[in-house]
This record gives sequence, C-alpha cells and structure tokens, in this order.
Amino acid sequence: MTEHLLPDIPGLSRAAHLLREGLLVAFPTETVYGLGGDARSDTAVARIFQAKNRPTFNPLIVHVPDLRTARLYAHFSAEAEALAARFWPGPLTLVLPLIEGTLSPLVTAALQTVAIRIPAHATAQALLRTAAIPLAAPSANLSGKISPTTAAHVASGLTGRIAAILDGGACSVGLESTILTLKPRPTLLRPGGLPVEQIEPITGPLAQPGAQITAPGQLASHYAPNAPLRLNAREARPGETLIGFGDVKADLSFSPSGDLIEAAATLFATLRTADAIAGPQGRIAIAPIPDHGLGRAINDRLSRAAAPRPLP
Ligand code: TXA
Ligand code: MG
Repeated sequence: MTEHLLPDIPGLSRAAHLLREGLLVAFPTETVYGLGGDARSDTAVARIFQAKNRPTFNPLIVHVPDLRTARLYAHFSAEAEALAARFWPGPLTLVLPLIEGTLSPLVTAALQTVAIRIPAHATAQALLRTAAIPLAAPSANLSGKISPTTAAHVASGLTGRIAAILDGGACSVGLESTILTLKPRPTLLRPGGLPVEQIEPITGPLAQPGAQITAPGQLASHYAPNAPLRLNAREARPGETLIGFGDVKADLSFSPSGDLIEAAATLFATLRTADAIAGPQGRIAIAPIPDHGLGRAINDRLSRAAAPRPLP
C-alpha cells in the first residue's frame, strides 16, 4: 500500500514518521518530485535503488533544509559558500568533499564527495524540518523513465513500491537541478533548472565533463517515453504526434508563446501526454527548442529521451 498524504500537519507528521522508520516517501521539490529516504541509513538508501530499479553505482543527491545543516555533511570552500549564498534554496546541486562517516556510503557510491542541495519548495522545506533527517532523493520515477512533476506521475510509476506520496501539486521549475562540481575546477555535470548563464558570472566559464560518465543523467538513453522521438521537427509525419513550441503549432505544445520557463515546467508532463496519445505503435515528433538559458537543459533531456534504447 502506498499512502497519499497532504502537506498539512498530520500529513507531514506521518511522512516524517515513515522516513524515521527507514521507509520511502516521495515529496515535491521545485524541480521534480524526489523519492526520499534517510541518507544516513544503508537500508533506506538500498530501498530507494530497489524501488526505482536503479543501477546501484549511481550516487544520489542529499537534500537538507539549510546551509547550517549542509555544513554537517560537506566541506565548503569559499567558492562553494558564494554559490550557496547566491542560489540556495533553489535548483542547484553542488558536489563537494564529503565529511567522512556522516552518510550511508550507498548515497555517495563510496565516493569521497557528496552531491547536496537545499530545495526551495515549501513542502520540501516543511518535510526536511519536520523529519530532521538528511534525505537522499533521486527523481521519483522508475530508472530511465520520464521524471515526475505531479503526485499522479509518481503514483503511476511507484504505487505499491514506496510507503507514501506527499502531494504538493505541480513542480514549478519542471527540470532537475543543475549539478556542478568545483574540483579540480568548476564543471557542469548536468544542465538543469538553474541556467549556466546565471552561474558563470560567479564561477567563470564552466568546464564540460570528460568522456567518463560522472552523472547518470549522462547515460545516453534516459528520461524516455515509450514512443520513439524525432527532434527538430517542423511538422508531423504520418503516425506522429507533434509537440510544438512557439511558432511551430500543434495540438500539444511545450509553450505556444515560445517561453522557455513555461516549456521547462511543462516538458515532462507534455511528454507523458504525447506518449499516451501516440499509444503502443505511435511516434512523437518535437519542434526545435532554442539552445540557451533553460533551453540547454530542455535539449539535454530531449536528446537523451530520443537516444537509442538499451534492449529490455
Ligand atoms: O532536481 C533534482 O536534482 C532532483 C530532485 C528530486 O532534487 N533529484 C535528482 O536526483 O535528479 P538524481 O538522483 O536523479 O540525480 C543525481 C545526480 C546524478 O546524475 C548523479 O550521478 C549525480 O547527481 N551525483 C550524485 N552524487 C555525485 C557525486 N558525488 N559526484 C558526481 N555526481 C554525483
Ligand atoms: Mg532521475
């Protein structure tokens, strides 16, 4: 049974209780819904991998309510402090040196670094403060599938696999957080809800990670609907459901006015809708999206969703 909880005092207390028992609770953040478990508990973290069907070598992001708590788990350089002061709470994850022995080694995949963020969403904040537990939380979907931006999306993938879903409505940003590592130099590990153009004034030009896969968002096929995807389409071919943007008009659109913030917020929900319309034999075509600001993260997700799939 998966309990459905509201973000009121009884719902938050129940969610906190389940988390303290080492069970899993999906909760909203401003980016996407997270599948939360106690980041100090090997059992809870193992349950996250099991519920998602996720390959265990992928480390998870740890969520905390404030900077004071973040400093319990990670060492902050002056540059990390500056980024935290400017962008937290918000859709930025920093990979920082781990304070050894404070978290389950499963969270960090036994690395000596930890990915950490402070979500801005009021329900995430309320849950983190009520539970008083650092929460490991990947996106609350089955591994490789589309990330959830509503409680209903979470339920469609994880019902029966997790203890509870805390329903805080639709996510406002709609894309996962931007992930940065600072050593040996500031490097973008994953484009996301905080545009690079806002970060570079503080860090200088960001490096791109090398060929080695450092974040599972970088696995070629990810965020995938069932139907195959064709990108940069201006019209639908026979058998295709077209998703428009701006002046590419269609029954579905990420943003009819061509607004990248709106497109990010509607991206995953629109892919799910198109997948449902396309059905088992159908295909999805997608209009071009400009490659600046949030468009960069949107195109990153779309190219992975369109990538060849591993055989089942
Ligand atoms: O917006 C988000 O970031 C969402 C919400 C729920 O907060 N969470 C999310 O988590 O997307 P997840 O687990 O799906 O993505 C975690 C990413 C992975 O790409 C992982 O490789 C990277 O963080 N990561 C975690 N720890 C790392 C580390 N120590 N070094 C490098 N990358 C790390
Ligand atoms: Mg994910």
